[in-house]
Amino acid sequence: MPSSQAEPFKIKMVEKIKKIPRNEREKALERAGYNLFALNSDEVYIDLLTDSGTGAMSDEQWATLMQGDESYAGSRSYSRLKETGQEIFGHRYILPAHQGRGAERVLFPLLISEGQYVINNMHFDTTKAHVELAGGRAKNFVIPEAYDTRNYHPFKGNFDLKKLENFLQETPRDKIAFIIVTVTCNSAGGQPVSLDNIKAVFKLAKEYNLRVVFDAARFAENAYFIKRREEGQSRRSQVEIAREMFNHADAFTMSAKKDAIVNIGGLIGIKDDEELYNQVRSRLVPLEGFPTYGGLAGRDMEALATGLREGLDYDYLKYRTGQVEYLTEKLRENDVPVQYPAGGHAVFLDAAEILPQIPYHQFPAQALANALYLEAGVRGVEIGSFLLGRDPETGEQLKSPLELLRLAIPRRVYTNNHLDVVAEALINIKEYAGELTGLKFTYEPEVLRHFTARLKPVKQD
Ligand code: F0G
Repeated sequence: MPSSQAEPFKIKMVEKIKKIPRNEREKALERAGYNLFALNSDEVYIDLLTDSGTGAMSDEQWATLMQGDESYAGSRSYSRLKETGQEIFGHRYILPAHQGRGAERVLFPLLISEGQYVINNMHFDTTKAHVELAGGRAKNFVIPEAYDTRNYHPFKGNFDLKKLENFLQETPRDKIAFIIVTVTCNSAGGQPVSLDNIKAVFKLAKEYNLRVVFDAARFAENAYFIKRREEGQSRRSQVEIAREMFNHADAFTMSAKKDAIVNIGGLIGIKDDEELYNQVRSRLVPLEGFPTYGGLAGRDMEALATGLREGLDYDYLKYRTGQVEYLTEKLRENDVPVQYPAGGHAVFLDAAEILPQIPYHQFPAQALANALYLEAGVRGVEIGSFLLGRDPETGEQLKSPLELLRLAIPRRVYTNNHLDVVAEALINIKEYAGELTGLKFTYEPEVLRHFTARLKPVKQD
C-alpha cells in the first residue's frame, strides 16, 4: 500500500502555515467574490490550487542556483540545460522559455494557418488559447472512458484512434495543422497516455504527413505510469520509456514548473527539423529573449537542468504518484466520488455526483470548492462549466462533460497528514452536501473569466 511508504527525502527547511478561523474564512470568501483565485495565500491553509511552480526544490537544485552563469549570450547554464535535455529527450534542439505558455506562443503560430484544426487528446486551457490566438481551432479526441469517472481504465488520456483516423480521412490535409499529445492529460484528471497509443498516433500522423508535438508538462509521471500499468513495460526504466515516448514526437513544448520541479521555466524541443529550429530561434528573441536564456536567469536554467533529472528518479516518482493515490483511495473508501484510477498530479472529485441538485450553469464544482475552503481552509480549483465558459456564437453557457474539483498536489511540499485533513473535510462535507447551493455571476469578464469573475450563492437572492 502506498500509505506505508515514507517520503524519499528529509526536510531541511520549513514554511509556516496557519488555518484562520472559520468566521474569517467566511469573510475572505465573500470578499473574494466566491472565487478562490482572489484569496490571499495567507488565508489558505493547504493550497491545492495547482502543482505548477509550487514544488519544493531540493538542496541540489538550490546549490546549482549558485552556479548560474548570467551571461546574456552563450551562458554555460544554457549549455548544461541543452545537454541534459538532449540526453533525456533525444531531441537535437533544446531552447528555454519562461514557462509553458511562452513556449506555446513561440511555436504554435509557426505551425498553424488561419482556420486549421489542431488535434489533441485534450487541450489544456492556455494551450487552447494559443491555438486560437494563432487562428487555429482546437479539437479533442480523448477516449470516452475519460468521462466515466467511476470505472477503471489504465490510460484514460489515450486518443480515440478510430475517431482520430476517421477525422484524418474526412478532413483535407491542409485543414489540419498538427497533432498535440498532452502527457499526462491534465484536463481528464492527470491521466496517462500509453506508449502503444503514442506510437499509434505518431504512425497515423506520419501517414497523413502531420507533425506530432508533445505538451510535455508531466512527461515523467506519464513515463512512470507506462512502466506500472502497460503490459511488457515493467522491466524497463522510466528514463528509457521517456526517451522512447519523445522519439514519437517531432517537437515538444514543456512547462518545467511541473515535472522538472522548478518555480518558473519552460522548454521547446525539436527533434531534428533544422528549418523549424531556425524559425523558432528567431521568434524566441522578441518574445522570450535571446536563445541562450529564453526569459530565464542563468540560475533558473541550472535548477531546471537538475530538476529534469530529479523528476525522473524512480523513488521520487513512486512517492509522488503514491501520494496522489493515497488521497484518491482514502476518498474512494469513504464513497466520495473521484476520477479513478488516480492520476499523476491531482485528485479530481466528481462534483456532479456529489452535488446532483446543482445544475451545471450554477457550477457544482465551484460550490464544492467553496465548501471545502469553508470547511478546512483548503483551496482547490474548478474544472468544469465555470472554466469552460460560453459558446462564442450564441453566448450560451456551455455544459462541460465533467464537473470536477481538482486538488493538485504540489511536489515534495505536503505530507500525508495534510492529505488526511483534506480527506476528512471532504468526508464531512458529504454529510451536508444536499444543503449546498449553486452560484451566479455578479461580475463576468469576457475573456478567461475563471480567474477574475465574481460570484454569489444563489440562495442570497
Ligand atoms: N500544458 C499543460 C498540460 C498544463 O497543465 C499547463 C499549465 C500548461 C501547458 C501551461 O504551462 O503554466 O507553465 O504556462 N498548467 C497549470 C495547471 C497552470 O495548474 O494545471 P505554464
